[in-house]
Amino acid sequence: MIDLRSDTVTKPTPAMRRAMSEAEVGDDVYGEDPTVNRLQDRAAEVFAKEAAIFVPTGSMGNQIAVKLHTRPGMEVVIEERGHIYNYEMAAMSAISGTLARPVKSADGSGILQWEEIEAALHTSDAAYYVAPTGLIALENSHNLAGGTLLTRERTGEICDRAHELKIPVHLDGARIFNAAAALSETVAALAAPCDSVMFCLSKGLGAPVGSMLVGGRDFIDEARRWRKLLGGGMRQAGVIAAAGLVALEESPALLTEDHANARRLAEGIAEIQGVKIDPERVVTNIVIFDIGGTGHAADDICARLQHTHNVLASGFGPSIRMVTHYDVSTADIDKAVKALREVLHKG
Ligand SMILES: Cc1ncc(COP(=O)(O)O)c(C=O)c1O
Repeated sequence: MIDLRSDTVTKPTPAMRRAMSEAEVGDDVYGEDPTVNRLQDRAAEVFAKEAAIFVPTGSMGNQIAVKLHTRPGMEVVIEERGHIYNYEMAAMSAISGTLARPVKSADGSGILQWEEIEAALHTSDAAYYVAPTGLIALENSHNLAGGTLLTRERTGEICDRAHELKIPVHLDGARIFNAAAALSETVAALAAPCDSVMFCLSKGLGAPVGSMLVGGRDFIDEARRWRKLLGGGMRQAGVIAAAGLVALEESPALLTEDHANARRLAEGIAEIQGVKIDPERVVTNIVIFDIGGTGHAADDICARLQHTHNVLASGFGPSIRMVTHYDVSTADIDKAVKALREVLHKG
């Protein structure tokens, strides 16, 4: 099976499995798991922030951040395809009592200009009967927009202007290591101006479970209370944190290979008649292409890819998404392109 549905499908490496079996553990609700503590310290160090907390999922990390930055009745400004808005179960309203204010990026890249954000803000000058903006939520790389990138400069500009207006900025950096690799930046530089950052160990970095929320010490102390409230207080979590530590140290260097594979996939797909994709826009590990011009439905094609060629992909409306990761080789990419061509034009 060539599984291109997501980079969440990666299996732990032998080094991760070894680290898990040998992990020193304790009760993390008492703050006594040495492996979790090491992971948290290391994540804070890598991101050059004061503190970090290990959370079971990226969604929990994002939603704790929304909760801590806002009060009920506030709005969260976010790009309209942002994960926090589209795929986290309306948690920002269920948990935090906030309302998403989605903003479309005019150029379709998913990457907002400050002016687009500014037009959606309700600051202290706004009429008393509109909901104030409590938070701006960014995403780097931007998943649903096709792994597109927020540069250090753009992030800095947005954060500076937001902070002048006393609005905090949270970064959903589920794939920030992909962004850093593609931009030849450090994750610390990309995250520096943001008030908080969530990143996932369980996506391209390959750990089986877990994400980190990173920020100021007081913010993370408060995040620990909310993690417990949400049922995320884990006990001997060092068993999974051990894999996270290996992922954090060893996996970032491998991501450029995933990006090269994604570009190769995009270039192969671009040659298939009726498919719309610009390979130049594939800069990380996510490949999204429109098959509307072939007359087929995406879900149908994904089902046929699976049943006739053992290739897994995800359909979204007229588009198909394929994501590269370390369990997919360059030879697998070539097989996937061939399979897609056959399913679209010979089937
Ligand atoms: C951009 C982005 N943010 C957050 C998440 C949430 O992570 P999790 O599935 O661990 O809750 C995902 C997961 O796919 C994601 O792609």
